[in-house]
Amino acid sequence: MKCVDDFRLTFDKKEYVPIMIGGMGVDISTSDLSLTAARLGGIGHISDAMVPTVSDRRYDTKYVRDKLKKYKHNVANEDKSDVQFDLALLEEAQRAHVENTMARKEGSGLIFMNCMEKLTMNGPKDTLRVRLASALDAGIDGITLAAGLHLGSFALIEDHPRFRDAKLGIIVSSVRALQLFIKKSARTGRLPDYVVVEGPLAGGHLGFGFDWAEYDLATIVAEIRQWLVDEKLEIPLIAAGGVFTGTDATTFLENGAAAVQVATRFTVTNECGLPPDVRQEYFMAEEDDIEVNGISPTGYPMRMLKNSPAIGAGIRPNCEAYGYLLDAKGSCAYIVAYNRELKANPEARRLKVMDKTCLCTHMRNFDCWTCGHNTYRLKDTTHRNADGTYQSLSAEHVFKDYQFSKDHKIALPPLE
Ligand SMILES: Cc1cc2nc3c(=O)[nH]c(=O)nc-3n(C[C@H](O)[C@H](O)[C@H](O)COP(=O)(O)O)c2cc1C
Repeated sequence: MKCVDDFRLTFDKKEYVPIMIGGMGVDISTSDLSLTAARLGGIGHISDAMVPTVSDRRYDTKYVRDKLKKYKHNVANEDKSDVQFDLALLEEAQRAHVENTMARKEGSGLIFMNCMEKLTMNGPKDTLRVRLASALDAGIDGITLAAGLHLGSFALIEDHPRFRDAKLGIIVSSVRALQLFIKKSARTGRLPDYVVVEGPLAGGHLGFGFDWAEYDLATIVAEIRQWLVDEKLEIPLIAAGGVFTGTDATTFLENGAAAVQVATRFTVTNECGLPPDVRQEYFMAEEDDIEVNGISPTGYPMRMLKNSPAIGAGIRPNCEAYGYLLDAKGSCAYIVAYNRELKANPEARRLKVMDKTCLCTHMRNFDCWTCGHNTYRLKDTTHRNADGTYQSLSAEHVFKDYQFSKDHKIALPPLE
């Protein structure tokens, strides 16, 4: 019987353990988590979601305070079109985050950055260009284009000196999305170096509608694989979403995937950015405690724990401080929902907004408990302490369990 370690992912004749830890914003896939994957010969991701905010927390900068100060006069204004990101500061923050991570890299693996198109930042094209280009400038090994079709993203960086040497990949959830991306990027003369095929059981935003349960990852991987064969394209496919055991991963590798991308099992590791009490919520979740809802202002369905504090919270929009989801016109679906409730309940001391959430604020505060479908199985991956809490895991332990386990077994960590 084979295990993941019997396979290798190859880029430019170099071999990697075919395990990629997926990007998890905002700072859930931390530098430390990504560095563990790279040290063990696999691939880790940092995320570029809300990097100035992450920088304030990690590197003691003051981007958020300064932006709020600059736009404080606009807080009560429904129109946020004036609240722009300073592109030079955005570049500085992105560069520092990548440089600080890459400077600590050890081992033979790689570190990629997850870049989400849906982070429209009141200037979709310019802010994305800056984020992509400065990550390349700062020496990131690769970029995974996420949360969007990215039809113009290659063109944004085609003149960058690293455009052809950095690894560039895209996440898709259908053959159609990949076909569109390749067609629209053809002008740049470059194909993606890898394609992450993300199925409906993943965490974060889903590339499916509310009929997500009708799709399954293995079928989509097979469809995309067949299309690539028909088109005579050789692009490594990386299967993601619901790969919970080493054996799940091995099955995908035996069926033609070049690697797997995994995330949920790392949400309860010491290296992940979720605070310890939130990790306990993930451990404790039962299958019924998880839902796919429509409260993300991005318009994509998102999977989260039903007791997530982000659900129903009617806080005032925080776009002057954050504003990462403002569209090209300075609007966000949460602002609309909030103002509707404010008008309907002018006397209320505490508003409830059920249909949308202020995702920036709640992701920043780890109050949006987005998670993968298999989160309810996390309790089976560790020991339960005498007080009813669950023992935290090291990312190395989880990585090696994926790498070496067979027969759907999950190795428990040494008892603390
Ligand atoms: C807590 C959490 C946050 C996530 N955030 C992002 C994100 O910011 N961008 C993204 O492209 N994918 C995100 N994902 C998806 C993962 O990168 C990954 O592709 C997927 O969850 C893999 O499936 P698994 O969680 O079942 O292992 C997130 C997943 C989780 C669990």
